[in-house]
Amino acid sequence: MSRSGLSECLFEWDSGWIERMRRSSGVDFDRSEVIAELGIALRELNRRFTDSSDGVLDLYGQDPRLRKAYSVYYLLANLPKVVHVLLAHAVDPLRLRSMLDLGTGPGTIPLGVLTFLSLSGAVAPAMDCVCVDRSRGFADLAGCLIRSWRESLDIRGRTRQLAVDLMDYRHPVSAPVDLLGMGNMLTEISAGGALRKVIRLAESVVVEGGLFLMIEPATPGAARKVLAVRDELVSRNWRVEGPCPGSYACPAMKRDGDWCHHRLSWSRPVLIGDLDRRAGFDKQFLNFTYCLLRRSPAGELSGADAASPGRGYIVVSDLLASKGKYEVYLCGRERKVLVKLEKKHVSASNRDLLRVQRYDRVGFEADIGRDARIELTPTSSFFRISHTMEGQ
Ligand SMILES: C[S@@+](CC[C@H](N)C(=O)[O-])C[C@H]1O[C@@H](n2cnc3c(N)ncnc32)[C@H](O)[C@@H]1O
Repeated sequence: MSRSGLSECLFEWDSGWIERMRRSSGVDFDRSEVIAELGIALRELNRRFTDSSDGVLDLYGQDPRLRKAYSVYYLLANLPKVVHVLLAHAVDPLRLRSMLDLGTGPGTIPLGVLTFLSLSGAVAPAMDCVCVDRSRGFADLAGCLIRSWRESLDIRGRTRQLAVDLMDYRHPVSAPVDLLGMGNMLTEISAGGALRKVIRLAESVVVEGGLFLMIEPATPGAARKVLAVRDELVSRNWRVEGPCPGSYACPAMKRDGDWCHHRLSWSRPVLIGDLDRRAGFDKQFLNFTYCLLRRSPAGELSGADAASPGRGYIVVSDLLASKGKYEVYLCGRERKVLVKLEKKHVSASNRDLLRVQRYDRVGFEADIGRDARIELTPTSSFFRISHTMEGQ
């Protein structure tokens, strides 16, 4: 699976996207109308997403104009995140045969999974999808898009779309799934009963060894909900596949206001660039928080993947360069640490620090001080174990 494969797929999306939306949804998507009117609708949508007053978010799925804006812009911008996470954590395409997507919107996560399956080159891929959304308009659109995607990618399977609120959804016990998906929905639900419902569903619908993928906006509130769900499931013996290097309680949850997020470079499609200019957005990078969890097979002990000292860390900040020094925050082994390298101490053994990007997995041979700081010397080693874009 190559990075150019993903870029080609996005390019194909960009040029064929409006036509595909028009055909599969029955809604007329003319390009000039898309650019002009959707710019206005995107601003309105963004205002709703960032306004925390009660009820402001409730109805956007019922407004065809806002639904269309979401489906053109955010589907195109969110889908690569799904593909990236599945690639970055080497998910086995042959073990993805069925999924449930909560808060499906236009079907972003299932469409991302289908794209991943088609890029993986797996022979005769098949995937059953159940898509749940409280908005009938979104649920139906997801169904249409997924069916049309299946056809063009030649991926078999059944698609069911259900217009139902998360709180009322009952999943048949006879149909457990390989993957539970939830994209950009935690941000729209309350922290109490709805989060407990999500956890109950994860425990009851995902097969042993199956996956739960959460992707949310890079905001402290949404990220901390992801981390809260992550921690609860880890305490129930689920394993963290990524981005964290181990399955321990998240250090960010020890302090109010701590969180982390990814920043992914991508080849921004022309359509997104045009809409960015109209709506005043900037999707040069894809910023998001995610967590990919695996339900441990029965009998597997928790903590089985505890990383060895000095190796199990990921980068959770940008590289901060100031006069005379570089600094970067790492997270791992249940704590966050600050690594400092004075410019005069850069050497062959620690030079990797200058190349790090968020969520790279790194290691070092140096002592961690009492204050959770590491001062690299010319002889200490710092190395990148895997790069966040590896395998793409
Ligand atoms: C921001 S959109 C995300 C769509 C898609 N998952 C994505 O990542 O692009 C959130 C979706 O969740 C749905 N939603 C919000 N609260 C819900 C609830 N309580 N039950 C079911 N769906 C809900 C909304 O209707 C909307 O379609």
